[in-house]
Amino acid sequence: MADSPLNIPPEKIPQHVAIIMDGNGRWALSRGLPRVAGHKAGTENLRRVIRATVEFGIKYLTIYAFSTENWGRPAEEVQGLMGILQDVIDRELNELHQEGVQLRHIGRLDRLGPKIKAKVLKAIELTKNNDRLILNVAWNYGGRDEIVYAIERIIKDGIPAEEVTDQLVSKYLFTAGVPDPDLVIRTSGELRVSNFLIWQAAYSEWYVTPTYWPDFDKDEYRRALETYAGRERRYGKVSSEELEGSKSNA
Ligand code: IPE
Ligand code: IPE
Ligand code: MG
Repeated sequence: MADSPLNIPPEKIPQHVAIIMDGNGRWALSRGLPRVAGHKAGTENLRRVIRATVEFGIKYLTIYAFSTENWGRPAEEVQGLMGILQDVIDRELNELHQEGVQLRHIGRLDRLGPKIKAKVLKAIELTKNNDRLILNVAWNYGGRDEIVYAIERIIKDGIPAEEVTDQLVSKYLFTAGVPDPDLVIRTSGELRVSNFLIWQAAYSEWYVTPTYWPDFDKDEYRRALETYAGRERRYGKVSSEELEGSKSNA
């Protein structure tokens, strides 16, 4: 295709990709480096993956960067991660803005320090009218926490029980207005959801690779998208091919 670097028909390109960026610690360990060095390398890779996402023509990217459970890590690592978030905003914001990336945050900002919170809010405000890529950063995010928070607000808003629908719940999530992820990628080989988008990923396709996040490059990203394009999403129904076959046999 002339305008896409992917060998995939446009209708098979996912609209929304979500990534569990895992394996930074093991990447560092395998090189005899401290874990925080792995997170720094992971951040460098994120920059490349964001660029590739724009190039591939994907509209929404959600990245899992810090979970509600990650607070349980050693204080030094948690502080290192918070520092990296601030550095990334300081260093990358203007360029992301120029490239038309709209930054959003999913999760809770309340546990973050006032300085970092202000930086995140500033980045959201600055980029709010961009529409080339919507980048949701999951920071202090947990899928269960998101659902609990939605239930709290549904009750506080006095919504009658009979009005509580699938669509209504979706509107109360941090991802309100964002289509569900078509594809979830997890690096470093772990076969679990780790509290990521547990509502939204109900029918997402999965791609898990043993590659550690800092090494997940554009070629592998392309392979993930090509694998996705070859899947048939059935949503609990019967394969369309099978249905066609049974019609012609009848
Ligand atoms: C993912 O890498 C980044 C965060 C969770 C912040 P990890 O730090 O979980 O790396 P591993 O899984 O220990 O290798
Ligand atoms: C999930 O990875 C969270 C992020 C990538 C931010 P973890 O490394 O925290 O998940 P577990 O502990 O292996 O399930
Ligand atoms: Mg991990």
